[in-house]
Amino acid sequence: MSPFRLTRTLPEDATGAALRADVLAGLTSTPKWLPPKWFYDARGSELFEEITALPEYYPTRAEREILVDRAGEIAAATGARTLVELGSGSSEKTRILLDALTGLRGYVPVDVSESALTQAGQALVSERPELRVHALIADFTGGLTLPETPGPRLVAFLGGTLGNLLPGERAAFLAAVRALLSPGDALLLGTDLVKDEGVLVRAYDDAAGVTAAFNKNVLSVINRELEADFAPAAFEHVALWNAEREWIEMRLRSRTAQTVKVQALDLAVDFADGEELRTEVSAKFRQEGVRTELGAAGLELAHWWTDGEDRFALSLSVAR
Ligand code: SAH
Ligand code: TRP
Repeated sequence: MSPFRLTRTLPEDATGAALRADVLAGLTSTPKWLPPKWFYDARGSELFEEITALPEYYPTRAEREILVDRAGEIAAATGARTLVELGSGSSEKTRILLDALTGLRGYVPVDVSESALTQAGQALVSERPELRVHALIADFTGGLTLPETPGPRLVAFLGGTLGNLLPGERAAFLAAVRALLSPGDALLLGTDLVKDEGVLVRAYDDAAGVTAAFNKNVLSVINRELEADFAPAAFEHVALWNAEREWIEMRLRSRTAQTVKVQALDLAVDFADGEELRTEVSAKFRQEGVRTELGAAGLELAHWWTDGEDRFALSLSVAR
């Protein structure tokens, strides 16, 4: 069995320092906000996996359907010898690609969640003794350096995670991805599509309350890491469709007037009754918008594939 390598490209305390800076900036702003990458501690990664199996959460199933249908075409179009995956999580759908990419030598999953990377990486090397897996604990928005691996490279960014970045962050992210590509390399991008509002809102506000628990998990992360005293039950999960921006907004609404202490920051934060804390957006896309954003980053859309119900799209693009 080839060894499973795990490289931490973030200094040990980078996460702590970045969390402190983000929490301080976000909780002292009007309106209050928190950046989404802090959802994914071990518990958050588990809750996200539960989300992917919910009846209301269609994106994972729709994207899997496209991968099953198109993996052969993706393999033929790219001839990839290395698959790099940003925000790889459990790498569950990735197995479809790993099966189809017959010339593949190595897999480089990149995630901020060490627990998700370790679990996925160890399972993959035991299932596939010939595959070299080099996992990177890294922030994909923060200047990635990839290990030396054979080309052509296919960079995959699945799950609609691009939509969790704000438009300016998306432009910077896509430009950084473009800079990682050499001639012959490609980007495989999963984007959720604009659709009926009810379907969208239910996907982010499920009946079993798993998404609510996921959203509130960010409060538990802050409690543990920064000695805060958020009472998750004192906040209500809110998911709403912003028709102008074409994104779902996730918020946590304070059920009463309350003061939360964040000891590690020596900070007391007042919440008014009904005040909302913004935690995440999940933008939904149209083909023209994706083409334009890719184009602005120096990438050219070469293939656009959707599932049978046009809920989700996978696109393949190359450097211009
Ligand atoms: N690709 C998987 C998981 C999507 S959830 C799927 O399609 O099901 C988003 C993943 O991105 C999580 O595993 C999370 O830990 C990771 N993530 C979120 N923000 C990140 C960041 N800034 N840098 C690296 N990984 C990030
Ligand atoms: N990339 C996923 C999405 O936008 C992440 C996600 C799913 C999510 N459900 C969530 C993020 C709920 C925050 C809250 O679909």
